[in-house]
Amino acid sequence: MWTQQTNFFLLATVSYVSAAADGQIRLAGSGSTRCSGRVEIYHNSSWGTICDDDWDLNDAEVVCRQLDCGTALSATTKAHFGAGTGHIWLHFATCSGNENSLSECDRNGLPKQSCGHHEDAGVICSDGQIRLAGSGLTRCSGRVEIYHNSSWGTICDDAWDLKDAEVVCRQLDCGTALSATKNAHFGAGTGPIWLHHVGCDGSESSLSECDLNRSQPSCGHSEDAGVLCSVPLQQPSISLTSPNGGLVWGPEGAEITKGSSFIFSCSINSSYAPGCFRLFFSGVNLTEPAVDHSASFSFPAAEYEHQGSYSCVYELLLPSRTFTSAESAPIHLIITSPGILVLLLVLLVVGLVLWRRRRARRFDPHCVIMWATDNNLVIDFIYMKNVYTYCI
Ligand SMILES: *[C@@H]1O[C@H](CO)[C@@H](O)[C@H](O)[C@H]1NC(C)=O
Ligand SMILES: *[C@@H]1O[C@H](CO)[C@@H](O)[C@H](O)[C@H]1NC(C)=O
Ligand SMILES: *[C@@H]1O[C@H](CO)[C@@H](O)[C@H](O)[C@H]1NC(C)=O
Ligand SMILES: *[C@@H]1O[C@H](CO)[C@@H](O)[C@H](O)[C@H]1NC(C)=O
Ligand SMILES: *[C@@H]1O[C@H](CO)[C@@H](O)[C@H](O)[C@H]1NC(C)=O
Repeated sequence: MWTQQTNFFLLATVSYVSAAADGQIRLAGSGSTRCSGRVEIYHNSSWGTICDDDWDLNDAEVVCRQLDCGTALSATTKAHFGAGTGHIWLHFATCSGNENSLSECDRNGLPKQSCGHHEDAGVICSDGQIRLAGSGLTRCSGRVEIYHNSSWGTICDDAWDLKDAEVVCRQLDCGTALSATKNAHFGAGTGPIWLHHVGCDGSESSLSECDLNRSQPSCGHSEDAGVLCSVPLQQPSISLTSPNGGLVWGPEGAEITKGSSFIFSCSINSSYAPGCFRLFFSGVNLTEPAVDHSASFSFPAAEYEHQGSYSCVYELLLPSRTFTSAESAPIHLIITSPGILVLLLVLLVVGLVLWRRRRARRFDPHCVIMWATDNNLVIDFIYMKNVYTYCI
């Protein structure tokens, strides 16, 4: 009963307060915030909208200034924030952008009779915009910064929780919140601390719709709030090296001589600390913590059982859950016998001998190499039998 009476009293107060003055403006509509929405203007005792004909950034700039909402980011048209009701009070707002209120702008031109509420004009102002910053920043995790009174500032972590982080993640189109970080997890910011005791219920579409306390907080930048949102983890990349040069890239994959050492490296562009990499091959998996967005898996000597397909994944370890990235492209590893190398060496020596002999014959046909034992060389020896021979 008491609550109902209080509510009624509050409502009465609110409607009293909103008995606006002529020329007053407000932002309304679905998805609207304190500083973005369908522009409504109070005139002749009722709220009405603005037709989007000729509606541009200069007009939006004046609206943002009039509402103390910073600068205009966008002048929306075609009922971007939903269609209003009532009168369409203004058809052509032609502001230069420097006026302090919409009523100072020229209103020339005749009202276009065909203008309907599906053409209602709106604005998106810079105030209340949020961004993520700090070290270890990714598109969807970082220190939360909010734009207000023409400068970027931070949020104090007092009462900062997953519901608040949820709204930030939604506002940034970053999926759901995994963590509401405290104590300047992404480094301490600078400038003003705009908010403290943020009280979102988690369903709001932007932070400015939450219960905000804009009073001066007793907070330092060492308590800056941050978020970690659940955007899908990037696919890591994989590479293979062999420090002692036993690596050859063949058509089937990477070939490593048995006994050579080799190193698989996994890396990812963004850093979600604390994370680790897992290397998968032949039903086995190895884990290394991520340092500087990458990890190395060293194998001191290649064995035949190392043959197989290798790929890595990135794992983000959170107290509540582990998130795993997609697998990297695979690298197929083939272990080759060092015997093949010896054979290659023998072939090389024989080839060299033949080449030398042929060269010797071309320039000095009387030379016979006596130490030849190979079949080919014996045949050559017979061929040269009838010739007077000598060697230099
Ligand atoms: C203002 O509103 C009254 C009553 O709603 C109406 O009679 C009058 O024509 C309106 N004037 C203008 C200028 O729209
Ligand atoms: C906004 O910024 C101006 C200029 O920097 C400053 O004078 C004013 O006090 C600020 N207002 C608030 C509410 O912080
Ligand atoms: C805002 O914070 C100040 C200081 O922490 C506190 O005194 C005040 O009651 C708070 N206001 C609201 C509406 O929570
Ligand atoms: C990392 O970024 C670079 C350039 O920005 C890109 O070429 C590379 O493919 C990216 N790596 C991964 C694993 O996404
Ligand atoms: C990695 O290997 C361990 C055993 O060595 C196994 O328990 C675990 O399930 C494996 N992890 C994955 C993701 O396959």
